[in-house]
Formats: sequence, C-alpha cells, structure tokens
Amino acid sequence: MDALQIHGGRPIEGVTRVSGAKNAALPILAASLLSPGTHRFRNVPRLSDVATMCNLLAQMGCTAKRRGGAVAIQVPPQVKPEAPYALVKTMRASVVVLGPLLARYGWARVSLPGGCAIGARPIDQHLKALEALGANIELSGGYVTARAKRLRGARIHFDMVTVTGTENALMAAVLAEGTTQLENAACEPEVVDLATMLIGMGARIHGIGTPIITIEGVPALGLADHSVIADRIEAGTLLAAAAITGGDVFVEGAPTAHLEAVLGKLHEAGCRIATSERGIHLKGPSRLRAVEVHTQEHPGFPTDMQAQLMAILATARGTSLVTENIFENRFMHVAELGRLGAQISVSGQTATVRGVLSLQGAPVMATDLRASASLVLAGLAAKGQTTVSRVYHLDRGYERLEHKLAKLGASVRRVHK
Ligand code: EPZ
Repeated sequence: MDALQIHGGRPIEGVTRVSGAKNAALPILAASLLSPGTHRFRNVPRLSDVATMCNLLAQMGCTAKRRGGAVAIQVPPQVKPEAPYALVKTMRASVVVLGPLLARYGWARVSLPGGCAIGARPIDQHLKALEALGANIELSGGYVTARAKRLRGARIHFDMVTVTGTENALMAAVLAEGTTQLENAACEPEVVDLATMLIGMGARIHGIGTPIITIEGVPALGLADHSVIADRIEAGTLLAAAAITGGDVFVEGAPTAHLEAVLGKLHEAGCRIATSERGIHLKGPSRLRAVEVHTQEHPGFPTDMQAQLMAILATARGTSLVTENIFENRFMHVAELGRLGAQISVSGQTATVRGVLSLQGAPVMATDLRASASLVLAGLAAKGQTTVSRVYHLDRGYERLEHKLAKLGASVRRVHK
C-alpha cells in the first residue's frame, strides 16, 4: 500500500488548478443509464471512485472510454441492472445507480452499501422516495431489489437533507409519469450540477439549488454532453494547505460561489483572500487564529471540509471548537492528529482544539478520505517527517494531490510500501 512522505515546515507558494468535482461526477456518470447511446462528459477527475463507477457501468454492459479529462459512456438499449456487493462495498456512492436503473428499466438490484468509517449512513430516505414514486422495494440478502412498471410522480418530503438521496429521487422522477415535488431537498452544488445536466438531456426540473425541487416527468431523455463543475472540497483543501503553512497560493478554477462558508472561516482565522472569476488567491498568516465552526448542509460549512479545518487549527493561536452535525462518527482524524502533537479533545459531536506552537512529524494512518487530507495538511506544517499510510483513501477523492502540492514547493512524495 502506498504512503506519502512529507517533510513539513515550508510555506507553499504558486499557482495550482482545481480538478472536476468527485461528488458531481459520480451521480452524473450514473445518470447516463437514463438513456441509450453515447454520453459525453468533460472535466471528469482521475480518481479511483470515478474508475469504480465506470467499472460498475461496464459490469452492467456499458462501455466507458476516457481521453484526458473527457469520458464517453456508451449505454446499450438493455443493461444488466445490478450493482454487486463486491463493488458497492468499495464505494457506497454506487447506490446512485438505483434511481436511474429503476426509472429506465423498471427493475434494479443493488447491494446495500453498509456503513463506513464516518457513520452508519443508511439509505432509508432513498428507499422512501422510490416507494413514494410507486416502486416495490424488497430487502433481502444484503440487497435492495426495486421494481416498478412505470414510476408515477409524487410529493416526497425528506426527513433530513440527503445529497445522494435527493440525487436518486431526482433521477427516478425525470422519467416518472406526472409531476414530482421533492421537499427538504439537498442544495449542494453537486446536486445542482446533476440537475443542470439532466435538463440538458431534456428533463423538466424547477427549483434546483433550493429545498423544493419540482420535476415534470418526460417519456424519454436525450444524451448528456456536460462539463463537470470544479471540486469545491479539493479547492478548499488546497487553500487550507496555504493557510497552515503561511503560504501564498492561487487556486485556478476554484468555485468562489460554492465556498462562501469555507472562505469566511479562513478569513476569520486570519487569511487574506482575494476572489475573482478566474479563481481564489489566499495568503496565510504567520499563525492562524482560533475559530468556532459548525458543519451544516449547503450553503453552511461543509462536513467534507471539517477534518481539513481541524488540522489547520491545531497550530492556531487560541482554542477552537469544531462541531460535526452531519455524520455521527467523523472525528477519526483526531487520534492521528494527536500523534503529530495536536491537543484535541472530543465530547459528543464537538472537538476542542487547543492550538499548539508547532506539530512534530510522525507516522500516521489515514482512515477515510477527508481524514487522510487532514493528515497531509498537518504534515505540511509539522517539523520533520510525516508518513501518511493507506493513501488509497486519499486517491478516492484527490487527483494527484502530492504532485499539486510538490509543484507548490512542498516536500511530499509517494512511496510504495
Ligand atoms: C454525500 O454523501 C457525499 N458523497 C459525502 O461526501 C458528503 O459528506 C455528504 O453527502 C454530506 O454532504 C457523495 O456525494 C458521493 P447524505 P451522502 O445522504 O449522500 C443521513 C466525501 O468525502 N442519512 O447527505 O451519503 C446520513 O447518515 C463524501 O466526498 C440517513 O439517515 O450523505 C448522514 O448522517 C463523504 N438516511 C446525513 O443523513 C438516508 O437515507 C447526510 O447524509 C440518507 C442519509
């Protein structure tokens, strides 16, 4: 298994570029199941999760071809509407094939994703939405089998905001008979990007980006030809790297409009930030100031930036409070940050981060995607060498992060263990 070897203590400086958004690309690729033919996508990040989604589609009978940042998905008139456990267990987001398969083929058998490091992450809301649209749902042997002759429009109120739950419901409703209204729908930019692409395929959707989305079902859809939005979480992670190292970085293509809450916190912590339609420029202070942060659904502070913010607050002046409101177990990075000398205590859903003057490099282990990013950030600031093992977690959601950081002057290299 690969590891990243980091020699910290250097400010990172220069220009880097954000890649396409993982959490937009995954449902967007799955949406190609909604109509036969060749769908074309651009700005698709090179990530193991994207490769897993392409592999899943290939197992169903589709053909996925990549040329640079472009991916073409050829969908035959009939596919094998199944997502096996062997694949779903490696990427829970595979569950987003459920909605499109059911809408297009009237039948789908998808492995239950099971829990993961950050929480139980059930899919009850996904199933509630599909049942409301007329699907017959059967759970057995760790699989969901969903059947429906023709889905019918319905009014669906989500008990809590769910990103992929909203996406599954959206992709099922676009081919349903009649009108569907989603209430308490997710407003994340990645959901907006999916909906925008579906409209490009001929779907009739109103209210995207708001908690009330209305979908008028159509008999069939055309083909996708879409460029994936920039990854706000990767952009936030790169900006956090400049913040913790007292660096000076311009992130080209960073989506300012999707990062307001993150930029607000980085500014509050003492960073100087300039935004333009070309990207975001951040200069880190010699030492960050402590802040208080609560993760929330978009447009609030994103849970996917919580671990990264906690890492950079480890050396801030003062005591910070980090409250995780979305997932029940998203503090796996705390123990590993402690190995680098961070002073963090957890009580319930709140972590108290007492800023220390400096961190010391040590071997640490990644436990999940964003935790691995937080350990890299801490390693960039720590004195001496930090080795982050199990970076396969990182490769799920960051395209060549070590290359991007090395180009900005960081001493980081991948070692094969
Ligand atoms: C998406 O996961 C993202 N993944 C996650 O990013 C992100 O952290 C999360 O949204 C929240 O923003 C993708 O888009 C592929 P949820 P998702 O359904 O859809 C509970 C990353 O690091 N819930 O919005 O699975 C759930 O347990 C990943 O890139 C139910 O109880 O998250 C959680 O506590 C990690 N029942 C909360 O809702 C349901 O049926 C939000 O989950 C669905 C969700």
